[in-house]
Amino acid sequence: MVNSSNFADRLDRSWEDNAPAWIDTVREGGIKSRRVTTDLAITNAVRHYSPKRLLDVGCGEGWLCRALNADGIHCIGIDGSSNLIEAAQVADPNGEYHLLPYARFDRLAEEVGAVSFDLAVFNFSLLHQDIRPILEALHSVLRPTGSLLIQTVHPWPVSKTEDYVDGWRTEEFTWSEHQFPQAMPWFFRTLESWVSTLHESGFQLRGLTEPLHPESKKPLSLIVSASQARV
Ligand SMILES: C[S@@+](CC[C@H](N)C(=O)[O-])C[C@H]1O[C@@H](n2cnc3c(N)ncnc32)[C@H](O)[C@@H]1O
Repeated sequence: MVNSSNFADRLDRSWEDNAPAWIDTVREGGIKSRRVTTDLAITNAVRHYSPKRLLDVGCGEGWLCRALNADGIHCIGIDGSSNLIEAAQVADPNGEYHLLPYARFDRLAEEVGAVSFDLAVFNFSLLHQDIRPILEALHSVLRPTGSLLIQTVHPWPVSKTEDYVDGWRTEEFTWSEHQFPQAMPWFFRTLESWVSTLHESGFQLRGLTEPLHPESKKPLSLIVSASQARV
């Protein structure tokens, strides 16, 4: 029987197996929505906070930290894929990247430094069903005034073809020129579900933006910003 933990296991494994194809795709600018809109949307959203210390959670091969380190922001990347963390370190030898899967986020403060970050960012990296423990762990590393930014799939295009309900979906990466050996399960959540999960995890929604395709004016992502409600 396929249950939620099967999806989560397959999701985690996919990022080891797909790492070479993912690295090539991202570094060649092979994701059009990122090229035209969402990369700039998230870097500008981070810059808006002028953070001194930034935690890039699910940093992948590290492009966001490299972009923001160049602005003088001290960005520390963390990810559960050893292949992606190794690629991030090779591309940015002076940067700081840690291997730590979400399942081990009880060790987050020990790994990256307690109460030391002004901002934590997830760029398309909150893909699991049960994200509450991941978000709750952030309180141990964010300063009291620290904030959270999440860029994720916009629910509108998804809901045009499928029911608008939370649930597991599958990404086949057929749009990429590179061969991804594994399909990736990911958990779709509605806007209502994002907002309630943030609240249940001790965050308060502060803002919501919908970056658009520059020509079609269709939304390409959703960015939510939140502050800590428990301080
Ligand atoms: C779509 S990629 C985004 C990567 C990066 N944020 C970017 O913008 O290119 C999703 C990332 O989430 C990470 N991830 C998935 N499951 C994880 C887990 N259980 N623990 C930590 N990271 C995980 C993957 O390794 C991958 O780097």
